[in-house]
Amino acid sequence: MGNITFTMIKPEAVEAGNTGAILKRIEESGFRIVAMKKVHLSEEKAGKFYEVHKERPFYSELIEYMSGGPIIVAILEKENAVSDFRTLIGATNPEDAANGTIRKEFATSLAMNAIHGSDSDENAKIEADFHFSNQERF
Ligand code: CMP
Repeated sequence: MGNITFTMIKPEAVEAGNTGAILKRIEESGFRIVAMKKVHLSEEKAGKFYEVHKERPFYSELIEYMSGGPIIVAILEKENAVSDFRTLIGATNPEDAANGTIRKEFATSLAMNAIHGSDSDENAKIEADFHFSNQERF
């Protein structure tokens, strides 16, 4: 058993019908889906999730965007899950994302960057616990 990371396929990628293609890339890269569901976050819940960015100038834009349509949330398991997943998804800004990364292929802008990945083991646990109970993990 490896450790975990948390991911969200963001509203514009879900809306564009890219859920299946992105999940295929994730599974083919060796990640096991421990938990997954489709949810539509309220502004309040999106605000809580991204509370760490509260003081950033893009916070209100981020909350509007992330509560603007349904998303896929999931817990993924693999050795070195956090860093391997960040390598797979690529840089936050798709203009800087390496060829072959998920953001290079599917992101449309810095704000609408298709997918989220936890930035540390500690945050992976916090983010996974935010969305999933233990009974929803397999
Ligand atoms: P994510 O990795 O999910 O974490 C924070 C999100 O804020 C990020 O992806 C982007 O969607 C968004 N974001 C980060 N920087 C900016 C920015 N400068 N302008 C707008 N949105 C941003």
